[in-house]
Amino acid sequence: MEPHMRLPLAILYLVLIVSAQKNRTFTFPQGFLFGAGTSAYQTEGAHDVDGKGQSIWDTHTHEHPDRIADGSNGDDAAKSYYKYKEDIEAVKEMGMQIYRFSISWPRIMPLGLPNIINQKGIDHYNSVINEVLSNNLIPMATIYHWDLPQHLQDLGGFANDDIIIYYEAYAKVIFENFGDRVKWWCTINEPYYQAFGYEGTLFAPGLNSTGIGGYLAAHNMIKAHARVYHLYEKQYRSKQKGRISLNMPIDWPAPRDKTSTQDQEAAKIELEFSLGWFAHPIYSKEGDYPQVMKDRISNFSLAAGFPFSRLPSFTSAEVEYIRGTADYFALNQYGSKHVAKGEQGPDPSFDRDSGVVMTGNKKWPSSRTSKWETITPKGLRDIIAWIRKEYGEEWEILITENGFADGGQLNDTLRVGYLATYMTDMLKAIYIDKCKVIGYIVWSLIDSFEWMSGYTSTFGLYQVDFKDPERKRTPKQSAYFMANITKTREIPS
Ligand code: NOJ
Repeated sequence: MEPHMRLPLAILYLVLIVSAQKNRTFTFPQGFLFGAGTSAYQTEGAHDVDGKGQSIWDTHTHEHPDRIADGSNGDDAAKSYYKYKEDIEAVKEMGMQIYRFSISWPRIMPLGLPNIINQKGIDHYNSVINEVLSNNLIPMATIYHWDLPQHLQDLGGFANDDIIIYYEAYAKVIFENFGDRVKWWCTINEPYYQAFGYEGTLFAPGLNSTGIGGYLAAHNMIKAHARVYHLYEKQYRSKQKGRISLNMPIDWPAPRDKTSTQDQEAAKIELEFSLGWFAHPIYSKEGDYPQVMKDRISNFSLAAGFPFSRLPSFTSAEVEYIRGTADYFALNQYGSKHVAKGEQGPDPSFDRDSGVVMTGNKKWPSSRTSKWETITPKGLRDIIAWIRKEYGEEWEILITENGFADGGQLNDTLRVGYLATYMTDMLKAIYIDKCKVIGYIVWSLIDSFEWMSGYTSTFGLYQVDFKDPERKRTPKQSAYFMANITKTREIPS
């Protein structure tokens, strides 16, 4: 071949490969796991039944109904405490393998203290787990999904580092009672948003701590997670043989202006301040918080008159203790956001510590009921690829949450479209970017109490009639769609 022809032919070849990949239908890999998830406070109800103690979400919703869009609460929610068999049956009906649910700490320990155990709480989760297993499903349990016993909050909650020993004592009871049957564990769900509860009033416990509580709570959550990982490692792993992780949420931050180096830099910083904050200490080779967080928060704290950084620091022994304390990467992913380098000013989304501002994007469609949720499937692929590049290809990634919010209608075509496009991009991450994604858990199995949105925005594959005292469940179009996917193991085009 003439040398001058080589380059054009190579380009043509590349274009052909890329377009073939684009239009290719991928089949889900063998052994790939499908599931659906729920959490205790959002679905169970029975908030004061059978010895359950009060949680911070009971307090938050009862004392501040104005902080919830429709003034509602999870007192009764979807009544899953009574209807769990139907919920589990629904997972099975869709041909999925995993049911992800959470255990309510105050149902097991009404005050959060290990000397008072509520046997009825243990009995309840034994029944749930046994039901999951008798339906040939895999139970995945979240040990803590935001419903801290109020009594522990009265003592400071996650801002008091004694929480670490209380959380460890709670986890020990969990492993002792359920670890013979539960093999997939999530220690703490989305510590990022739980930390938010120590910075503002959107999430319980709803403290306003002017830039201190969030970092402190996060610090103690990371240490508590590591403590429980080591507990399992030392006392339970050889017998119980389970896998442990913690769920990390991330909205993919894309630069507002792709060509601006400042905006590109802002996107990188935002990734470290959101995902890296929790992932770096655990998954990176060097451990500890991302350097950019340490530098920026320290500089800003000193400039603002603090004699130290508001970001607490780990000792080198702690860095070692925390590094590697996960058996898989549990990722909760929903949308993307545009970010830019910002400046102190009127913009409420400006974060002083990171120097980043969130900017809206009119081109991206978003869920009408949860405005924060943009429909941006490529963001899922991008974050998966970033995790592989940043933390190493050895980490298996499990999508522990992905789903779409709407008003609860049965004909949920937008949700179907959302799930189809996100799963397509996830498959591209697997086949084209060579990432190890081992499963996909839809959030959520059923409509439920959506925190500050109350019942105005729901994520269920199954509709729940909240006006019905029986809380009738009905499969939505998306439930049939998922059932078809698990059967054909392909996404219909
Ligand atoms: C993350 C949380 O884990 C879950 O509780 C919540 O309902 C979904 N995101 C949707 O906002």
